[in-house]
Amino acid sequence: MSGLNIGRRFDNKPLMLPWPGCPHIQIGGETGSGKSGVCNSTIGAVAGHTDTAIVGIDLKLVELSPWSRRLTSLATTPAEADRLLVDLRRLIATRAAWLEDNGHRKWQSAFGPWVLVVIDELAELQALDADLLAGVIETGEGGQQAIRQAKTGRQVRTGLLGGLARLARFCGITIVGATQYPSAEVIDQQIRTQLTIKIMLRVASGEQVAVCLGQGYANAISPKSIGPNERGGLWIVGLPDTAKPIRARAHLVTDADVAARVAGTAHLTPSYETVFGKDTADAFQAY
Ligand SMILES: Nc1ncnc2c1ncn2[C@@H]1O[C@H](COP(=O)(O)OP(=O)(O)OP(=O)(O)O)[C@@H](O)[C@H]1O
Ligand SMILES: [Mg+2]
Repeated sequence: MSGLNIGRRFDNKPLMLPWPGCPHIQIGGETGSGKSGVCNSTIGAVAGHTDTAIVGIDLKLVELSPWSRRLTSLATTPAEADRLLVDLRRLIATRAAWLEDNGHRKWQSAFGPWVLVVIDELAELQALDADLLAGVIETGEGGQQAIRQAKTGRQVRTGLLGGLARLARFCGITIVGATQYPSAEVIDQQIRTQLTIKIMLRVASGEQVAVCLGQGYANAISPKSIGPNERGGLWIVGLPDTAKPIRARAHLVTDADVAARVAGTAHLTPSYETVFGKDTADAFQAY
């Protein structure tokens, strides 16, 4: 286990995420608190690993695109997100069946690439398909049907993510999901319980501490413990090696850092076919 160094703890040790085989991660905190920064430091830390594919879902368009040359896939529209989630579900099914057939219980490097799935703004996955709705506004036709379709799309996306979260880890796939307020309305409860490492950046209230870290922490951790100017300041719970919440600060990753890291690691990016095989949603749709 090499681990990912994503920041510095207040006891001056490096803040390490276990890698490979990291449990899923939830990142919460108010706008501007540094959630995308944590995504960036995590991607930056994993980017140098030869046996690792990184895929992203970024419906806000701006957060993950600087990494695109190190990403095996980047979904920036609801339709692309759906396709990627479907392909990930298939990948899990294939990998799970393979593990079973070969008598293994867990993924190993020799079996194929580890996969990091970064979703910057989980809440956006709940968005209705804007392209679909824009068509309705332009043409004024098929309104009700399009809205129904868009709502179904949203449900399908949530369902896919739930199944993913439950099964992914044993198949070498880790999900990192960031959102301002990771309440049950934003992330299905079933998904939330699967995101076992919780990272909380600055929040405004005790209630939000409970939402970000879990009910039990609302009294133990003050929302004021992370100052307004301490961007990237965080609490983390659920790391495998310690029961206590850990106070830390993520490394600052600048645009220049991202550019340099991408330049140095883009050649390590596995192709879509290497990771997902030939039988992907795209191939499927072509028939
Ligand atoms: N670890 C860090 N150390 C110092 N500054 C940071 C750190 N992380 C982020 N920042 C600063 O804070 C700003 C906002 O961070 P970031 O974009 O990650 O917030 P966010 O929580 O993703 O916000 P939003 O909800 O709007 O997406 C960054 O532009 C950066 O300047
Ligand atoms: Mg952000």
